[in-house]
Amino acid sequence: MKKDQKIVPDMRPFLKWAGGKTQLLNEFHQRLPEEILAGKITRYAEPFIGGGAFFLSLNRNYSFERCMICDVNEELILTYNVIKKAVKQLIENLGILESEYRSKDESGKELLYYEVRDEFNRKLPQINFQRFSPEWTELAARIIFLNRTCFNGLFRVNQKGEFNVPYGKYKNPEICNSDNLNNVSALLKTTRIVSGDFTKCRTFVDKTTFVYFDPPYRPLNQTSSFTSYTKSGFSDTDQVRLVEFFRELDRKGAKVMLSNSDPRNQDPNDTFFDDHFSDFTIERVPANRVINSNGARRGKINELIITNYL
Ligand SMILES: C[S@@+](CC[C@H](N)C(=O)[O-])C[C@H]1O[C@@H](n2cnc3c(N)ncnc32)[C@H](O)[C@@H]1O
Repeated sequence: MKKDQKIVPDMRPFLKWAGGKTQLLNEFHQRLPEEILAGKITRYAEPFIGGGAFFLSLNRNYSFERCMICDVNEELILTYNVIKKAVKQLIENLGILESEYRSKDESGKELLYYEVRDEFNRKLPQINFQRFSPEWTELAARIIFLNRTCFNGLFRVNQKGEFNVPYGKYKNPEICNSDNLNNVSALLKTTRIVSGDFTKCRTFVDKTTFVYFDPPYRPLNQTSSFTSYTKSGFSDTDQVRLVEFFRELDRKGAKVMLSNSDPRNQDPNDTFFDDHFSDFTIERVPANRVINSNGARRGKINELIITNYL
């Protein structure tokens, strides 16, 4: 249901996230199911939540009774849980890190960054991801701090489960935006937060639910593959599993939208998505994207938006 303009809080992603969808938000808003406007959709699910650009933007404009977000990245889900349950303490911890950072000169800032990164990597193996504890809040503050000050705003762990991104040398990075964190926290109070595979949203989704899938991209070519959100990656077998799950939710009567890179940008004969989603609506919209591995070449390429309702 459309929200009353007066009560809409400002909400933006609190993390920079690879594959973040900020630039495509208008395209998505133009392709919402009409049942949202008619108030017939009361639930929203986003099973590859990442930085949550669309989740937050959608909730600025529409009211849902319940939302569900999910991601396989445990540290990310821990951070969402902390924002939901302990935003005050989080802001306190993050504020301390921010003040320390701002009090230092450039080399002091860099040194602090590596101290926080070391501390994060030392503490991470001791974290019990199943049970909320004060350690979660400290870890979440470090995650946000590192994400806002690291190179390219990546949150990436290597095969050993260590965060290894170098310092970012930003002039004036935003670290602790307490208004934004408080607004996101309020929204999360009516949001179920789940850690794990995208299929975990199965029981939440019914015919009154709108679902948006933003899986890791199918690599444009061999060198551009970015599959390091987690230790596991996302293979073509996973993409096909997702197609089957999309069909399952369609049969339930849910409204479903999915975006991905268009493999035909690189290889006009690669009809992977055209074939798998042939009985749904497939649209191509232009997007700016890093198109090679060192990030030096950016270009306009097509992004796919697939829906079961247009
Ligand atoms: C393209 S990103 C989503 C970006 C997000 N839409 C945004 O605006 O920031 C894909 C996300 O899928 C997550 N992911 C990878 N494999 C997954 C799986 N099997 N189940 C659920 N999430 C997964 C990654 O951790 C990553 O956060």
